[in-house]
This record gives sequence, structure tokens and C-alpha cells, in this order.
Amino acid sequence: PIAAKTTGEFRQMDNVAHRGASGYTPENTIAAFDKAVEMKADYIEIDVQRSKDGKLVIIHDTTVDRTTDGTGRVKDLTYEQLSALDAGSFKGEQFKGEKIPTFEEVLDRYRGKIGILIELKSPELYPGIEESIAQQLKKRNLDRPQNEKIIIQSFNFESMKKMDALLPKVPIGVLTSSKSHTTEQALKDFSAYADYFNPSYGIVTKDLVNDVHSLGMKISSWTVRSQEAADFLFSMDVDAIITDYPDYVDPRN
Ligand code: G3P
Ligand code: CA
Repeated sequence: PIAAKTTGEFRQMDNVAHRGASGYTPENTIAAFDKAVEMKADYIEIDVQRSKDGKLVIIHDTTVDRTTDGTGRVKDLTYEQLSALDAGSFKGEQFKGEKIPTFEEVLDRYRGKIGILIELKSPELYPGIEESIAQQLKKRNLDRPQNEKIIIQSFNFESMKKMDALLPKVPIGVLTSSKSHTTEQALKDFSAYADYFNPSYGIVTKDLVNDVHSLGMKISSWTVRSQEAADFLFSMDVDAIITDYPDYVDPRN
């Protein structure tokens, strides 16, 4: 955790490595997640989608075009096709050979070592993905995360309601960059099923942080890519920063 100085005292703030330590390594790869562990982040953030033949895979975009040497939509490619792609070279030749990881591989490799913030990316494209994710977590007894830090989040609120019903003990987060979701009523509606309200930092204000906390939710904000953005969020007293650079520290310490 980052020891953040807020109202004259130090408090703990979680440090979430966005798509892994993606400022230094190719996002959503084992290299990125290993780097986050090495940098002592509290969580890795991962984006989960599904191959044509039903395998849960970790990749941000709904196509493979930007981050691999292939082309096409994730949902139209089989796991065999996805696993043959190079997901490292786009970040530098030294990362050549990094693969698109599977959800199962990430759970098995990192559980107990670092928290896992699981984002369901565009779940509307993958009917039934909530059940598949719940099944993988249950199989590993990760649906009762007393000691193991697991959080599930999405921009798709219906999907998160469903996830909350499937896994009532796992903390749920809602993601947004829209101010329309920060009204008293909207926040109250989220608090019926969500434990985290996770906004982009452009819409974070001290009042918002207080309102979210008053409803018993936590607030993790993204995406930090500069020390200035990190400093702003430290001063706002959020519960976690979601950052490409998990080595930022509170300079007021
Ligand atoms: O964890 C928050 C953040 O990941 C949401 O945006 O586009 O990077 O998935 P995106
Ligand atoms: Ca994400």
C-alpha cells in the first residue's frame, strides 16, 4: 500500500497495477503482472474476454490488432489462434513471445501473491461470461475471499448486478467516466449491489469521495499515468489508485 498523507495523518491507499505494470511492460501479459508483483503493487487489474471456443482470456481491446501481431475480434478467434499470437512485441522487441494469458492461468499464478481486480470487458459481447467467471472462482474457493483479495468490476452495470447475485461475497465495482453517474440517486442505486464506485480521475471531487464513503462504498480511480495525477488522487483521499506506474509514491510522506 501507499502511505498517503491526507488530513494530517497517514493512511493506507491501495496501489493497483493497471493491466499489470503496463507503463513498463506489455499490458495484460505475465511480464506485466510479474513486474507488478516485483514492484509490490497491492493488486493487478486484468481485462477478461472470451475466445470463440469459450476460453476466458486476458486482453483489453475487443480486437487483437493493437497489442498483438494478429488481426480480428477476440470473440471470433479460437484459443488456439489467440495463443499463437505475440502479445509482447508492440511494447518492445525484448518482450517478443509474451502470450495472451488465460484467466485460469492468472488466478493460479497470482492468487495469494497479489490481489486481482477483475474487469469484465464488454461482457455484452459474451453472453454467459458471468457464469464462467463465477465457476472458475468457485472452483478455486476464491468466491469467499477472506484472505485473498479479489474484486470484480465493469462499465456494464447489469453484468455487475448479475455477478453480485452469483458471488454475493465477492466485492463488486462499477466503472464510469460519466458525471451523470455521480448524482445522489445514481450512487444510492449502485450501493445496492456495489462495494466500489470506480471513476476516471477527471470526475473525482472531494464531495464525490465523501458521498461514496457515506454510502459505505470505496472509491478507486484511474488511470494514473503521471505523478501529477497520482498527487491529485492522494489529495482527494481515494481508497486506491489504478496506475500504469505502480512505483509512484506520495511525495508528502
Ligand atoms: O480499472 C479501470 C480501467 O481499467 C478502466 O478502463 O479502458 O483501461 O479498461 P480501461
Ligand atoms: Ca481495465
